[in-house]
Amino acid sequence: MKDNPTILAIESSCDDTSVALLRDAKILAHVVSSQSDHKKYGGVIPELASRKHLENIVPVYNQALDQAGIESSDIDAIAYTVGPGLRGSLLVGSAFAKGLSLSLDIPLIAVDHMKAHILAHFIEEPKPDFPFLCLTVSGGHTQLIQVNSPIDMIVLGQTKDDAAGEAFDKAGKMLGLAYPAGPLIDKHAKLGNRKYDFPISELDDYAYTFSGLKTSLLYFLRERVRQDKDFVQNNIADICASFQGAIVDSLLVQLKKAANDTGITSIAIAGGVSANSGLREALEKLSIANSWDLYFPRLEYCTDNAAMIAMAGYFLYQSDQLSDLSVEPDPKLSMI
Ligand code: KG4
Ligand code: ZN
Repeated sequence: MKDNPTILAIESSCDDTSVALLRDAKILAHVVSSQSDHKKYGGVIPELASRKHLENIVPVYNQALDQAGIESSDIDAIAYTVGPGLRGSLLVGSAFAKGLSLSLDIPLIAVDHMKAHILAHFIEEPKPDFPFLCLTVSGGHTQLIQVNSPIDMIVLGQTKDDAAGEAFDKAGKMLGLAYPAGPLIDKHAKLGNRKYDFPISELDDYAYTFSGLKTSLLYFLRERVRQDKDFVQNNIADICASFQGAIVDSLLVQLKKAANDTGITSIAIAGGVSANSGLREALEKLSIANSWDLYFPRLEYCTDNAAMIAMAGYFLYQSDQLSDLSVEPDPKLSMI
């Protein structure tokens, strides 16, 4: 084991093929190839995603080595996403990692994608102090985590049904917006007012639910469009502002409760939905009111990326938590 290993990291859990290289706990190279082919289907098609990973993985790997200016023989360990994610997509990354590990005769590090989203906060300054609370909001997950150390995390609560990003994307479909709809709803919401009432999720145990919100939007639109067929077109900004407002409130109710209950004042946010400007604004206000220290990773480290896998791999390597060839990808890997 080395004090300062050079770690190659591979992320392929969904529709982004990404490779990063890390040395001295710093990112040397970071390449992401995002698949745009899913747009026309209104969501990620798993079979298509795994085929694209197969096409992309070798060129992305070569590009990362070029960017870092190193040879494959300089790599000391290989970190890869073991789950959660799409089975076929995970298999491509895991098979590539295992093949390289065998040919270079170096260890493997199996990384939990959700923990890696949280550890993205350690790629750059400012880094949160321990313990901190992290709200991880993506297309597949919504979790509130108490982070005691890089390898000690407790799930305080999570969604019982849809993830926050999924709720944005499904609402977008109802509104005729392209996939992924989160950024588009965000854009429209900036121009609108919170004029319509949608339910806010306030469950016990820091849990979330977004299925009621989605159904309420469906019935609301059905009723309004029956009265005026141009309702969506003429009111898109207000509808988006109202729907986004309900998601943001639902996310922040539980965060505030957890911060009060635990007394933790370092607050972090991770995942693709943390790009949402309404969420960022509301969080900033809440932080000022409660004297929290707030941490947002740079946007490219919020969405799926291999730099966060490299960071997580570094912490696992330091604590001697290596993997081996027998470990299979786990699409439903859960921290609980
Ligand atoms: O973390 P991510 O890139 O991928 C995973 O799901 O792991 O998150 C993607 C999700 C999509 O659902 C997308 O609609 C949402 O993040 N998203 C946003 C915004 N940017 C991305 N949702 C709301 N507002 C945004 N600005
Ligand atoms: Zn993710």
